[in-house]
Formats: sequence, C-alpha cells, structure tokens
Amino acid sequence: MNKQTLIQTVARLMESPKGILAIDESMSTCGKRFAKLGVPETEEKRREYRELLVTAPEIEKYISGYILFDETIRQSTKEGKSFTSILQSKGISIGIKVDQGLADLPNHPIEKITQGIDGLSKRLQEYKSMGASFAKWRAVYTVGENTPSVECMQENAILLTKYATLCQELDIVPIIEPEVLIDGDYTIEQSYETNAKNLDIIFSELRNSNVFISGVILKNSFVFSGKEAGKRVPAEKVAEMTAKCFKAHIPAHIGGIVFISGGQPGDEAAINLNAMYQAGPFPWPLSFSYGRGIQNEALQAWAKNPTDVAGAQVLLLSTAKNNSLATLGKYK
Ligand code: G3H
Repeated sequence: MNKQTLIQTVARLMESPKGILAIDESMSTCGKRFAKLGVPETEEKRREYRELLVTAPEIEKYISGYILFDETIRQSTKEGKSFTSILQSKGISIGIKVDQGLADLPNHPIEKITQGIDGLSKRLQEYKSMGASFAKWRAVYTVGENTPSVECMQENAILLTKYATLCQELDIVPIIEPEVLIDGDYTIEQSYETNAKNLDIIFSELRNSNVFISGVILKNSFVFSGKEAGKRVPAEKVAEMTAKCFKAHIPAHIGGIVFISGGQPGDEAAINLNAMYQAGPFPWPLSFSYGRGIQNEALQAWAKNPTDVAGAQVLLLSTAKNNSLATLGKYK
C-alpha cells in the first residue's frame, strides 16, 4: 500500500468546491429508470445517455470524479473515444462500483448483504489498468422496528472492510457507502441511532483490520426522517443532527465524507448539503457523491427529446453547479 498515493487521490476527489458524480447504476437500476420515462432498455441507449453525462462541457468545474459501472467503464462515444480517455482529458478521476448488488441476509427477512468479494482483487486490477483510482461499495440498511439487526450491520461491516483492504493494497481509494435507506416512516432520532450504531461497528472493524482511515472516503446518508414519515424535517435540523452524529462517530482523520442523495425529493439533497456548511466547521472535507440528485433533470429532458443532448447537458451542469455551491453554503 502506498499511503501517499491514496492521500493524493483523496485530495483530488475532495478538492473544493467539487463533488463526485455517480453514474454507476447497474443495468437493472438504469433499466427501471429508463422504463419509467419510456426509454428502451438497451445497451445502446445506456451508452448514448452515459455519453451525454461524460461529455458534458465544463462539468469538471464542479465534479472531481465519476463513479462508473462495469459496462460503462468499457464504453466509448459514438465516434469511438473511450469514456475513460474523455474523463482523463478533463482531469476527472475515474471511479468504479465494484460491489455486485444485494442478496438476502439469511434468517433476517428484508435485510440485505452486499455481494462481490469473490474475485474482487482480480477485478480491481483490471479496473486499475483501465485508469480507475477509486472504487465504491454500497451496503444498505432498512430502519424498522427490529432493523437493522446487529447481524446485518456486522456482516456488512466485515465485507466493507475486506473490500477496503483489497482496494488499498492496490492503491485504489475505497469509498465505503453504508446507505441507511430513506424508505420507511422512521423519525430523525431513529435515523440518528441507526447511523451512530452502524458507524461505530464499521469503524471498529476497519480499525481492527488496520485499514488506512485517511485513505478512505465515507459515503453516508444524511441523518433525516424516512420518506413516509410525513412532513420533511427542516434542513437546519437535518444538518444539526447529521453534524452531531458524524462528529461523535467518525474519526477526525477520515480522508473525506460525501453524501448520497438517496432518493430525496426535488433539490432536498442540495438544500441539506447547503445547511451542513452552516453546521461546520468540521475536521474532514465534506462534499457530495450524487447520482439522482444531479442526473434527474437531465435524464428527464433527454428522455423527452434525445436529440437535444446539449439542452440536457445544460441542466446537468446547472445541477452540478448548484450542488457545488451547496458545499460552500451558497446554494439558494
Ligand atoms: O449508490 C448510490 C449511487 O452511487 C448514488 O445514488 O442516486 O442515491 O445519489 P443516488
């Protein structure tokens, strides 16, 4: 492990006022989003859409890294330029989602563990040879009466740690993403408790395995109420509770923290991020790693009118800029 390389990659990704754009939807997730908008679920359509995202002019002003999916890291523009070479020419770091989705956690109905550890080192080596300098692994947790269970948190923490170790052995920065799902009618206090307990378990596991914490980026949910809990909690409260939780349960020397947008409605992800700025300062750099939170408007516009690529790219740029402003507390 070359700690210096990991620190440099973290610094590039967390460079203010930029964030990370996630375009790492699996084929089935991407397919579902396309289907809702009447876009055919074909490889060519996915390529066409991702070309729009990768070639958006000036996106590098607001985005430091793109997280790609296995299919996407191998794709090229219609003219035959690889997506990776385009990102590299813009100075954007290449990331790759390396988990292989979710499986049922035995004996724990509705709970999930993440798959993909088998053969991971080999896959990471290939992605590295294609230019990837960072990776992402997502675990999910459902907040309910008896969930997440300790077993769910423990199993996922072990997998996140194995993944992080394999990444760092190859000088690839691991983004660890323990996503507390927005679905449910839970309160912000329950979200706080869940995040706090889960973060404690994860960091204890990472420490026990000697993972280099300054060479890790944490991609976390905000501490907020569930989607079905009624009126959304105001951003100031979300920021206050999130800041309190993070300060108490995340080591000060973590490389950086980025948020997941996680299906928050409208521009809530930008508003909550903006409010975080007021709740600072923090010991760690803080930014975003949004998928839907940045792509939504551009995807809808492109689905309606696929020939107006430039129009959809303007929308993408504007949302990326808004979120960049939010990292500085300047989003209105
Ligand atoms: O794992 C989640 C993606 O990287 C980002 O998803 O659409 O919830 O921001 P999002």
